[in-house]
Amino acid sequence: MALLEVRDLSVAFPGGSGRGASSSKAVDGVTFDVEAGQVAGLVGESGSGKSVTSLAVMGLLPKTAQVTGTASFDGRDLLSLPEKQLEGVRGRDVAMVFQDPMTSLNPVVTVGTQITEVLRRHTGASRKAARDEAGELLARVGIPAPVRRLREYPHQLSGGMRQRAMIAIALACRPKLLIADEPTTALDVTIQAQVLELLSDLVRERGTAMLLITHDLGVVAGLCDTVTVMYSGRVVERAGRHELFARPRHRYTSGLLASVPRLDAPRGQRLTPIPGTPRDVIGWTDGCAFAPRCTAVSDDCRVPDLPLEQDDDAPAAAGQHLLRCAHPVPAAEPPPSQQEQQERSA
Ligand SMILES: Nc1ncnc2c1ncn2[C@@H]1O[C@H](COP(=O)(O)OP(=O)(O)OP(=O)(O)O)[C@@H](O)[C@H]1O
Ligand SMILES: [Mg+2]
Repeated sequence: MALLEVRDLSVAFPGGSGRGASSSKAVDGVTFDVEAGQVAGLVGESGSGKSVTSLAVMGLLPKTAQVTGTASFDGRDLLSLPEKQLEGVRGRDVAMVFQDPMTSLNPVVTVGTQITEVLRRHTGASRKAARDEAGELLARVGIPAPVRRLREYPHQLSGGMRQRAMIAIALACRPKLLIADEPTTALDVTIQAQVLELLSDLVRERGTAMLLITHDLGVVAGLCDTVTVMYSGRVVERAGRHELFARPRHRYTSGLLASVPRLDAPRGQRLTPIPGTPRDVIGWTDGCAFAPRCTAVSDDCRVPDLPLEQDDDAPAAAGQHLLRCAHPVPAAEPPPSQQEQQERSA
């Protein structure tokens, strides 16, 4: 049994998902696992439903959201847990780091108090013990002069330091699962790399499982054990990291890969964005939502509710490789080079 098992999760908002009348569900039948001690990546362009998925799991969506399916954590379904018990799980067993730390840090409470409150509430530590541990945590996440920083307010820290403080708060009660939703996109590139490395060190050191949400496959490449790719509310591909990068089968996944900067690319070569925007979709009930942007679209793609199935061409050693596509990238064909992608979309 995996630590977190999300099964057939769907979320609808009254008045639609903002994607137009054809797709009223923001998240539509999403299934994935996060194994204990592993890092699972959830990837997709803006609006694909990544944040709504994680907020549903945490019970943090507005009351009006209609949520179905199950999200079993340590054997308990979080989606049907009474609010009081869910509050106990949040922050203790499952913690979250968001993209913008300013919205989740309390601006009028010092960083030290915010960490010690969490520690005292969840571990029952004394004021003094919690204070000491908070200092150690800040030092561990790479904040210089941690004892002084404990007395400071969030606005006194730089963006990178605030994100580190958020990570310290999230890890304060040693959660079993950390959900990180675009934890570094608000930071500049060098700080991004540092914070990601820190996150990966901390979760591996402590055996914490992590659900890492990002639009950037490059981030996933270095960090995740498994990768789930979402498009327009549904999972389109899911596999172990090595398998997914070696043999991306969905044309959306291979398109995302071609738009990631690579060190081995010839100098001066431009990256190839996927043509169109995520707004150019059709509803899944009319066919593959990616069809309007796909370079290999044919009539087979206009089939309602294409299933997510094991890829028969995946090598047995690769384990589960799930795919929702009528005519995937041929398994024998190496992933398209950036140049090929460029020529195709020209
Ligand atoms: N509270 C809400 N009410 C109505 N629609 C919503 C609400 N929250 C999200 N949506 C819609 O649900 C869809 C999925 O949004 P979500 O925020 O999960 O995307 P995302 O994959 O996290 O994108 P991003 O990369 O931009 O963060 C979008 O079409 C969005 O407009
Ligand atoms: Mg989001």
